[in-house]
Amino acid sequence: MKMSEYLSLVANSGQVNTPPGSYNTIKEWIAHSFLGPHSRVLEIGCSTGFISIEIARYAQSRCYGLDLHEQSINVARKNTDRYVQNLVTFQCGDAGQLPFNEHEFSHVIIGGHLPFVPSEVRQQHIQQAVRIVRPWGYVLTALYFYKSPPPQNLIDEFNLEVGTKLVAENDYSYWNNLFESQRLLLEYESMHEVVPADSNRTQTYLEHLEPTSRKAWEKRLRLFNENGAYLNYFVRVYRKLPEQDGLMLQIPRGGIYQTKQISQKSF
Ligand SMILES: C[S@@+](CC[C@H](N)C(=O)[O-])C[C@H]1O[C@@H](n2cnc3c(N)ncnc32)[C@H](O)[C@@H]1O
Repeated sequence: MKMSEYLSLVANSGQVNTPPGSYNTIKEWIAHSFLGPHSRVLEIGCSTGFISIEIARYAQSRCYGLDLHEQSINVARKNTDRYVQNLVTFQCGDAGQLPFNEHEFSHVIIGGHLPFVPSEVRQQHIQQAVRIVRPWGYVLTALYFYKSPPPQNLIDEFNLEVGTKLVAENDYSYWNNLFESQRLLLEYESMHEVVPADSNRTQTYLEHLEPTSRKAWEKRLRLFNENGAYLNYFVRVYRKLPEQDGLMLQIPRGGIYQTKQISQKSF
């Protein structure tokens, strides 16, 4: 009940519902998983479509977005501009019963919906997502985690207002362990700190929302900011290993030397 209240607020307010790290995360995924025009991508828990639409814009990939919430899917369709309309498709569906065949996708994005589903089913949802990725394909994720446990009353209020099912133990190892033993090879990870918004940033954020929804958002933004003080997030790229043994794979990955990058320049 509460979950769909929040999701309806998202859908009706023009809020751009993004993964942790927003555009930067999408660029990291693209750069580290060779997303391109040849890719076929499923985004699980697509909300109003940000990730799929941006991947289509940046990489010209064929993207499919799936979400349980019908209103969000309707808004995702409206958000699909004419430059990507041939590349993006949105549909209603449950991450627990994916209507796709084994090995149908080169990339699956899973993460944003996991805090919303009961902890008992999270691993099984990831298993299903992995099943539909082709061998040597990619599983992309970005997840907030608690770097220190927040007060229980804050978590309770956050869960009540947003509809998540978070607990103080949802730290780095918790989310990390969910992806283990799935024939997934971690190829890339970056870690980031969340910096809660100052009043100017919060004001700008509110000004870009539907005016009638601003009151409802004020309370949530206060909660996001309070909760954000306890959060970091990671961005990850996993590779799906084929079932067949004996394929060429270097272990330890990278060989005998570990390496550290000395510099990188963007011009
Ligand atoms: C925070 S939004 C995700 C936004 C963005 N795609 C991301 O990954 O960060 C979470 C979405 O997960 C959806 N969701 C929750 N449970 C789901 C399920 N069982 N199957 C599919 N989508 C689900 C919600 O409807 C909501 O739109």
